[in-house]
Amino acid sequence: MVAVDLAEQMLDVTQRRSGAKAICADAVALPFPDSLFDCVFVGYGLRNFSNLNAALQEIHRVTRPGGQMVSLDFFLPPNRLWRKLYLGYLYVQGAFWGFLLHGRPRLYTYIPDSLQGFLSLEDLSSLLRRMGYVRVDARPYILGGIGLHWGIKG
Ligand SMILES: C[S@@+](CC[C@H](N)C(=O)[O-])C[C@H]1O[C@@H](n2cnc3c(N)ncnc32)[C@H](O)[C@@H]1O
Repeated sequence: MVAVDLAEQMLDVTQRRSGAKAICADAVALPFPDSLFDCVFVGYGLRNFSNLNAALQEIHRVTRPGGQMVSLDFFLPPNRLWRKLYLGYLYVQGAFWGFLLHGRPRLYTYIPDSLQGFLSLEDLSSLLRRMGYVRVDARPYILGGIGLHWGIKG
């Protein structure tokens, strides 16, 4: 198992908790040969990548044919009322925990901000299909505020 992140501090936490081999790298230039991995899991990552298409192409490249790609991330819920409540909840929670843990109330409020420019659950499924994944599916949680996507490299 290998963990990849741009941030050394994030990798230190990963190594302490899981013992996984940690590699500091950009998702758009993964330092691995083609088709190395059976599965690539991206946790709350896609939304943060500045070049989503390039990162997905890299993830596709390093996954073996028949291997799986799985992503868990935040999304804007489709229902307008729930979307407003959900965004409000994320701002309040983000400010609370950012202040309590780090003395920086704006630290985690980037999460609701980052949702504004991100894809919808359905659009990410379509993008994965266009990238060459088959049997793509997605499961919404908390009424579409979180989504789990998966697909097989065809
Ligand atoms: C919300 S954190 C999620 C961290 C971890 N995957 C988790 O689930 O706890 C988003 C992470 O994406 C990383 N990140 C952002 N852009 C990246 C890129 N281009 N390549 C690799 N990692 C990136 C950040 O450094 C940050 O640690």
